[in-house]
Amino acid sequence: MTTHSLLLLPGDGIGVEVMAEVERILSLLNKKSTSAKFTTTSDLVGGVSIDAHGTPLTDAAMAKAQAAGAVLFGAVGGPKWDKVAYHLRPEAGLLRLRKDMDLFANLRPAICYPALAEASSLKREVVEGLDILILRELTGGTYFGEPKEIVTLEDGQKRAVDTTVYTTREIERIARVGIDLARKRTGKLHSAEKRNVMKTGVLWHEVVTATHKAHGTGVALHHILADNCAMQLVRNPKQFDVIVTDNLFGDILSDAAAMMTGSLGMLPSASLGAPDSKTGARKALYEPVHGSAPDIAGQGKANPIATIASFGMALRYSFDMAKEADLIDKAIAGVLAQGYRTGDIMQPNMRSCGTTEMGSAILKEVERLMA
Ligand code: IPM
Ligand code: MG
Repeated sequence: MTTHSLLLLPGDGIGVEVMAEVERILSLLNKKSTSAKFTTTSDLVGGVSIDAHGTPLTDAAMAKAQAAGAVLFGAVGGPKWDKVAYHLRPEAGLLRLRKDMDLFANLRPAICYPALAEASSLKREVVEGLDILILRELTGGTYFGEPKEIVTLEDGQKRAVDTTVYTTREIERIARVGIDLARKRTGKLHSAEKRNVMKTGVLWHEVVTATHKAHGTGVALHHILADNCAMQLVRNPKQFDVIVTDNLFGDILSDAAAMMTGSLGMLPSASLGAPDSKTGARKALYEPVHGSAPDIAGQGKANPIATIASFGMALRYSFDMAKEADLIDKAIAGVLAQGYRTGDIMQPNMRSCGTTEMGSAILKEVERLMA
């Protein structure tokens, strides 16, 4: 029997509530699975870590993340920490995890479950059956480029600078992941940048083209300007399969894609590093795309599906447990078909429920499917 280690970082706001539902599924797997067991530890990240330790992520928590088989992350931030120093804000904890673990490949699958086609703000025929994957570069670009500062000019005005930087190597490695993912799916890859305005876009286009030429057999590559990609996503999202893009465009395009699945509360994500040269294992962090939702935090209303689906991605990508991952996806589809709906995906005549009730329904369905 294999033992997998998981670090749970629930964070702030609804992060805590949605993580509790994953813990229940973990206990069930530990009780029932004959092939693998999970050991879990937890730590603080974000605002709760600022409150306890004065920093959004301690070195000790960082070390645990580096050592874990995978990290499962909830959400960070909230109005309580709006005034803390910029470099200590809750989000800095998440950015440090991404950067220090070198999690450059962020997979954000947007799948519209049949039962939710009506819950999207887009028309049923536009989103029904949607299954696309946004691959976001996660450790470079505007998020981490230097200088990043606000300076005061001689006349008293201020000037803010963010820098967008990409190197050949950074673009090539994310393009390789995009090509590999597209090959396993329908063989279609879109690369989105702004080469009409940005030098990083020019280089991105050049390197993705060359990488595809060298390694892209069987994959059709299409270049698209990022603004047009946003428009096309809303107009006809099913024309896409895999979209590879930079850190900032990926942040924005994935929020748009999320709404096609019915709600931001539905979208899981996986952030992966390069395979280890000896073991082949990748550092990995899994998190829902939604945030800490301070407006509904502590009320038991949050949708736990994105976090449960993120755990499913951990089973698939970190622990080689595709069977169990499929089972979780099936259980989610099952309870949606049974009519369970949290507030964010509520529709007429459906069973309105809260976080725990949704979690229990999924748990029951997983148990049934395992039997
Ligand atoms: C995301 C989030 C983060 C980001 C925030 C919380 C820093 O919006 O994961 O998409 O901007 O990357
Ligand atoms: Mg975002």
